Amino acid sequence: MKSLGIGLIGTGYMGKCHALAWNAVAPTFGDVARPKLVHLGEANAALATCKAEELGFARASGDWRAAVEDPDVDVVSITTPNQFHAEMAIAALKAGKHVWCEKPMATSAADAVAMLEAAKASGKVAALGYNYIQNPAVRHMRGLIEQGAIGTVNHVRVEMDEDFMADPAATFGWKSEAASGYGALDDFAVHPLSLLSVLVGRIASVVVDMAKPYAERPLADGGSRAVETHDIANILFRLENGASGSLLVNRSAWGRKGRIAIQIFGSEGSLLFDQERMNELQLFQARGPVAEQGFRTILTGTSHPPYDRFIPAPGHGLGFNDLKVIEARELMRRIAGEPAHLIEFETGLQIERSVHAMARSHEVRGWVDVPG
Ligand SMILES: NC(=O)c1ccc[n+]([C@@H]2O[C@H](COP(=O)([O-])OP(=O)(O)OC[C@H]3O[C@@H](n4cnc5c(N)ncnc54)[C@H](O)[C@@H]3O)[C@@H](O)[C@H]2O)c1
Repeated sequence: MKSLGIGLIGTGYMGKCHALAWNAVAPTFGDVARPKLVHLGEANAALATCKAEELGFARASGDWRAAVEDPDVDVVSITTPNQFHAEMAIAALKAGKHVWCEKPMATSAADAVAMLEAAKASGKVAALGYNYIQNPAVRHMRGLIEQGAIGTVNHVRVEMDEDFMADPAATFGWKSEAASGYGALDDFAVHPLSLLSVLVGRIASVVVDMAKPYAERPLADGGSRAVETHDIANILFRLENGASGSLLVNRSAWGRKGRIAIQIFGSEGSLLFDQERMNELQLFQARGPVAEQGFRTILTGTSHPPYDRFIPAPGHGLGFNDLKVIEARELMRRIAGEPAHLIEFETGLQIERSVHAMARSHEVRGWVDVPG
């Protein structure tokens, strides 16, 4: 495959993560041409220049359109706040570029639909940053479910918690603005929804209660501003196959740092995983002498692809940024026309539909069907 030219828009938490992945993907996997880091776009020229130097990009612009329109760019990484995703992704697709856009896909259903239409019209690959599905432990869980290791799945319980919004004294930021979406639902719940979509399938209906732990947050230059988003959401759902489930998300949960705790219960066993212990999973199988039954802890290693691309020794552990390297490799596979394990805009739209149905349920105080 020819070397891909990379454009990057945004260089915060996720922008750095994408840049690291583009830098690492060729040496890690050893089977692809090293991408060329061509053009970086930021909110202003000074920041763009400084970050291009730091992250290894050849050109820098204070206008993101320059990165999108650069003829040497083949793929655009979009890592800006949520409200910019639709405009930037559609512009990149119209310019004939492949897109790797951070989650959530968009802040409105109409924007997500427009993004999918732009992707279809362009014929280019349009993928979303749903890195947690790339974890070798999660991929192994998927294989175990497909092989029937826990029988028929009948119940799923997921909790996602972090504490970056837990401090009531933390200043008002873009995540508290309605322009960024509903709050924990699109910022947070979309990650477990991406995991559910690959592990157990589509959510068919939901009932939801959202909450704001703090009504106001202080402004950096004095005073305060009313919080417009919900940091907590409690969701009950039904999967398309009839299984029941719950998804509880809280981005103001003191002490929780990166918890995505999943329990999947089947007719013959159970599977447990928690992103805070991302290098292991637990399997219970109702087999053999009852006196010897119990959960087994499986540490990921070289038998859980693509772990071996990073480390030749089992049990040493991958990290969060490694998931993005795997996602970059999958994206390159997809661009080369090979089968790939990715959440593209089509599935992304389904996740968005679940989120909007959840918000609607909170509003009407009752069960809402998720359009298929
Ligand atoms: N996949 C994941 O695990 C994960 C984790 C965190 C965040 N995210 C997503 O990544 C996105 C970015 O989040 P973040 O935490 O990196 O935010 P951030 O605030 O750290 O970074 C955002 C960057 O975008 C830049 N930016 C803003 N407006 C711009 C514009 N008009 N043109 C060019 N650059 C602009 C900012 O200067 C900043 O560098 C969000 O959509 C978020 O939901 C995904």
